[in-house]
Amino acid sequence: MIGLRHRNLKLFTVALAFFAITITSFLLNYTQNSVLDMWNPEKYFHFSGPLARFLASMRRPCGCETCVSEMDISLWFDEKFNVTFSPFLTKENGFISESTYKWWTRLQGERNPMDINKAMEELFKVIPGESSLQDRSPYQCRSCAVVGNSGNLKESDYGGEIDSHTFVFRMNHAPTEKFEKDVGNKTTHHFVYPESMRDLPENVSMVLIPFKTLDLQWLVSALTSGTINFTYAPVPRRIKVAKEKILVYHPEFMKYVYDKWSLHHGRYPSTGLLSIVFALHICDKVDLYGFGADSKGNWHHYFENNQAAGAFRQTGVHDGDFEAELIGNLTSIKKISVFKGR
Ligand SMILES: *[C@@H]1O[C@H](CO)[C@@H](O)[C@H](O)[C@H]1NC(C)=O
Ligand SMILES: *[C@@H]1O[C@H](CO)[C@@H](O)[C@H](O)[C@H]1NC(C)=O
Ligand SMILES: *[C@@H]1O[C@H](CO)[C@@H](O)[C@H](O)[C@H]1NC(C)=O
Ligand SMILES: *[C@@H]1O[C@H](CO)[C@@H](O)[C@H](O)[C@H]1NC(C)=O
Ligand SMILES: *[C@@H]1O[C@H](CO)[C@@H](O)[C@H](O)[C@H]1NC(C)=O
Repeated sequence: MIGLRHRNLKLFTVALAFFAITITSFLLNYTQNSVLDMWNPEKYFHFSGPLARFLASMRRPCGCETCVSEMDISLWFDEKFNVTFSPFLTKENGFISESTYKWWTRLQGERNPMDINKAMEELFKVIPGESSLQDRSPYQCRSCAVVGNSGNLKESDYGGEIDSHTFVFRMNHAPTEKFEKDVGNKTTHHFVYPESMRDLPENVSMVLIPFKTLDLQWLVSALTSGTINFTYAPVPRRIKVAKEKILVYHPEFMKYVYDKWSLHHGRYPSTGLLSIVFALHICDKVDLYGFGADSKGNWHHYFENNQAAGAFRQTGVHDGDFEAELIGNLTSIKKISVFKGR
């Protein structure tokens, strides 16, 4: 009898202590952390192994410390981020609304375009239009390095760090050969448009950003007959990329980036911004390298010696200042991290 009461008392004391600690931590944390963090048991106890992964998965949509797609952290972000938009065309989602189509064909003033539905039909006869990119798991942490072409990568020594990401995105002319120490040697996805296309290593996924119907026709041609060698500029007649690895940026997604993220600044979003928002939609963690000026304020490419080439900052087509502010906002709410190089 006495023994039982004694045990009850012990239990009560332990429970009381636990309660007090929890309340105190709760109050201490309240002022500093978001609601999400307050319910994070790993803050008070240290779990490891499968149990830790299980607990983490209970709270987050991914297996990283934080997940891009986590909502309720920033209203600004929640109002923009819309998961219903697919970043790339598939056989199932290959539909472009009338208003998007009108906007899209005006981007490069395409005259007498081929019927868009016909062009897409032809496209999916050549490429599969399927991808496992959107298969996600709460146990997985998909980290992405979005590598821009800024001269701030020179002598940055970021190579190894960049290569350690699950996915490495590069864009346009971006070479890695001879620059491995600073930019790495791994590329999983390369964002291009026909006029910026270069030879890609065989196992890289090409992400074509189409700005006109002819760009879709070019892709078909470049994989089959090789008839198209010119759009508004010379384009390669043939490309050596595995068909299963080709993705086509969705014009609806491009419009979404323009409407929601760049708020109609510039004529259309830059390849850099298009890649960043693409990454926000398919990655759990997004790290930016090679964006912005170098420490001396110069705007140039890491693979060019021309320091005076400020041309790609304000071309009138893109609004560089606005995009920089957008990147700043995403950084301040920890949706992305920016590595500034030197
Ligand atoms: C996301 O986009 C779809 C399609 O345009 C729209 O119907 C929906 O309301 C949007 N959701 C949010 C939360 O903005
Ligand atoms: C390039 O890749 C190899 C193996 O794939 C790796 O060992 C090497 O460290 C990489 N080089 C750089 C500079 O990142
Ligand atoms: C692509 O192939 C090259 C050479 O075969 C290899 O070094 C590299 O790791 C591969 N990259 C990916 C992402 O598979
Ligand atoms: C494209 O091909 C045509 C016909 O073969 C040729 O006359 C023209 O010079 C080519 N243009 C370019 C830019 O290579
Ligand atoms: C960045 O955030 C500030 C403060 O929330 C806001 O006023 C501004 O419009 C945002 N800028 C962009 C480019 O979204």
